[in-house]
Amino acid sequence: MAVTAVIGSQWGDEGKGKAVDFLAERADYVARFNGGNNAGHTVINEFGTFKIHLVPSGIFARNTVGLIGGGVVIDPQVLIDEIEMLNKAGVGMDGRFWISPRSHIIMPYHKILDGLYEEAKGAGATGTTRRGIGPVFADKVSYNGIRWTDFASDAFENRLKVQLELKNKIIVALGGEALKYESVRDEYRGYYIKLKPYIRELFSIVQDGLKTGKNFLLEQAMGTFLDTDWGTYPFVTASTTIPSAASAGLGIPSKYITDIVGVTKAYTTRVGAGPLPTEILDTKSAVYEQFGEVAATTGRIRRVGWLDLEIVKTAVQLSGVTELCLTKLDVLSGLDNLQVCVGYKLNGEPVRYADVDAYGLDKVETIYQAIPGWKEDISKARTFEDLPVNAQNYVKMIEEAAGVPVRWIGVGPEREATIRR
Ligand code: GDP
Ligand code: IMO
Ligand code: MG
Repeated sequence: MAVTAVIGSQWGDEGKGKAVDFLAERADYVARFNGGNNAGHTVINEFGTFKIHLVPSGIFARNTVGLIGGGVVIDPQVLIDEIEMLNKAGVGMDGRFWISPRSHIIMPYHKILDGLYEEAKGAGATGTTRRGIGPVFADKVSYNGIRWTDFASDAFENRLKVQLELKNKIIVALGGEALKYESVRDEYRGYYIKLKPYIRELFSIVQDGLKTGKNFLLEQAMGTFLDTDWGTYPFVTASTTIPSAASAGLGIPSKYITDIVGVTKAYTTRVGAGPLPTEILDTKSAVYEQFGEVAATTGRIRRVGWLDLEIVKTAVQLSGVTELCLTKLDVLSGLDNLQVCVGYKLNGEPVRYADVDAYGLDKVETIYQAIPGWKEDISKARTFEDLPVNAQNYVKMIEEAAGVPVRWIGVGPEREATIRR
């Protein structure tokens, strides 16, 4: 049995969706355990091209069962659309996809409050996805949340009434428009009816799977440095992203997690506000163009930077990463020299990531090492030996700094554009 967690070692969008899609061939269960539909995971395979927000990216493998754990927050309409889209694409969701009744529901007021908070913070805004993520997790931990299980009794109606009374006061005070109880109630009852066939307690599924030696693939959303505790607070997301979150978010005891795959982009990107020490600020530069990406959830332009080994190293330590999946190596092709950050200094003294807060990280001086690049197109490479020597050296340098092997190398967005070592 293997319980493998796939986690991003940077600020999200490392290519977790693609990694989970190709790792799922060996999995019995594929599961999401944190975050919500702020995630946008891209999968390109024989079924087509998908940007998935809630369903585990390993669902395309025929023998897998998909699970959404109680640690995930769900915007019902997004999930309903996603199930429909996947069914239409021939993925077949019925009977092999389950949602925990413990998962919290994103309500209309969460999305409104997310936007109002962001606007109130002005220049200090987090740059959230405005999907209601912060407010729904705040309600969860302050005992104000609404869960799918609440539909089993009259808890849904009772709790919604109280919440609307509270939330409408805040919304109106901040210049928004009050929500109507009946219309929210009816809308969400409708969602519940559609999702009910998929809602099922996961405890016995997970426990039986562990007992009978099934393989689990746990798909993190966001990345290590968006973690509420260990990320660049307050420029983080509202859920724990490190692998221990799988324990609470899915009911898998930490001791069962055998492998932790750290997905690492060959450079760095970030969406939203917060420090990015290796950021390339010259938006007219060729490198900026080359690294450019559009966010899978919001369509925003991702900020880009050189590879930061201090970040990767910290993620490996913090999450107990056992192996790396390096993505987007193909994107570096054509550059004469690559800059790689090998450490930070603050006021002339060496500092590590954990020594500074987000505001300190914004001020650190990055120590770069120039690495010779390669000119060849590597997108057709399928073995390590197919790669130019300088590309091989780039991979080896990452392994050495991280202290764990790079087992997979992405050379294109499609499932098959992957080197396995
Ligand atoms: P996730 O949130 O971690 O799943 O990552 P996203 O899907 O948000 O962003 C990763 C982007 O990189 C997507 O557009 C992927 O299709 C793409 N991608 C993933 N791996 C590779 C790779 O090895 N090479 C290239 N060129 N693109 C990749
Ligand atoms: P995946 O799973 C990149 C960022 C937002 C913002 C901060 C807080 O695709 O890697 P939130 O809406 O969560 O309250 O926003 O977190 N963020 C992500 N950035 N990839 C993601 O997910 C993200 N999910 C949230 O841009 O800076
Ligand atoms: Mg993404």
